[in-house]
Amino acid sequence: MKGLTNIMRQRDFISLHDFTTEEIKVLLDVAGELKRMRKLGIAHPYLQGKTLAMIFQKSSTRTRVAFEVGMYQLGGYALFLNPQDTQLGRGEAVKDTAMVLSRMADGIMIRTFVHEEVLELARWADIPVINGLTDLLHPTQVLGDMLTIKERKGKLQGLKLAFLGDGNNVAHSLLFGGAKVGMDVVISSPEGFEPDKNILASAKEDALKTKSVLTIEKDPQKAVAGADVVYTDVWASMGQENVADDKEKHFADYQLNSKLLNLAKPDAIVLHCLPAKRGKEITDEVMDGPQSAVIDEAENRLHAHKAIMALLM
Ligand code: CP
Ligand code: NVA
Repeated sequence: MKGLTNIMRQRDFISLHDFTTEEIKVLLDVAGELKRMRKLGIAHPYLQGKTLAMIFQKSSTRTRVAFEVGMYQLGGYALFLNPQDTQLGRGEAVKDTAMVLSRMADGIMIRTFVHEEVLELARWADIPVINGLTDLLHPTQVLGDMLTIKERKGKLQGLKLAFLGDGNNVAHSLLFGGAKVGMDVVISSPEGFEPDKNILASAKEDALKTKSVLTIEKDPQKAVAGADVVYTDVWASMGQENVADDKEKHFADYQLNSKLLNLAKPDAIVLHCLPAKRGKEITDEVMDGPQSAVIDEAENRLHAHKAIMALLM
């Protein structure tokens, strides 16, 4: 892999919905190639001299480490900005932060609560802005997930992914991702916790092109039946700590346990974006079982994030 294509250069990475099927394929191919080079010890300094500013308004292990280590492996530098130490945390405008960081860094990664804050940052920044999770979407996660599924199953198109639990940021990005690559996605949530209707509607528009089928199925057993991939996530996301106990009552039937997993295809793989609440949305038996791909999935964040940075920055 010598020169990288410039087709996505200087673009933002805010939602998978913004990328074409072909562009997502390029991102996945480059991620796979960067992974191969890393494993073989082949240097790949595509971002020498470049800097990524990382704004984290919420906690992170995987996303932070993947971007920071990834930037180092690409020959660049990443700096961690937390709200306690930056002026953003004291109320400096997102617009001003965007304009200033644009003069000093080559890219911005942001993890925050309100999705519109990322859009505002991207509006005023003249360097690429990468969405490292908002309350609405988690696109870098799902790019890594698609790399994992492709590695394990050899393809994405025509597979069935069942997501159990809260219709949250990860569920939304899975709908967008599935629609773009032609993978069927069924989301199974208790009543009142379904994915956002607008997200589902725009993902369905994308799905028309790839013929992927996106469905909401309240019954978790029906949702999991015949699935190639069974995915779950915490029932209460970051920022929902105060309603977690109350929310939990609605989700008991949606726990990913052996009984439910047995309804999927015998060779189905299990994914979880992590961090998990073991014993709640997923049992130890499933998380540590032979069908679990969750640690590969976490590793693939590194390779996927490197592809995003190398192609966009
Ligand atoms: N899955 C994920 O984004 O993990 P972190 O919150 O640890 O970054
Ligand atoms: N839905 C979870 C994902 C964490 C990576 C959250 O937003 O907390």
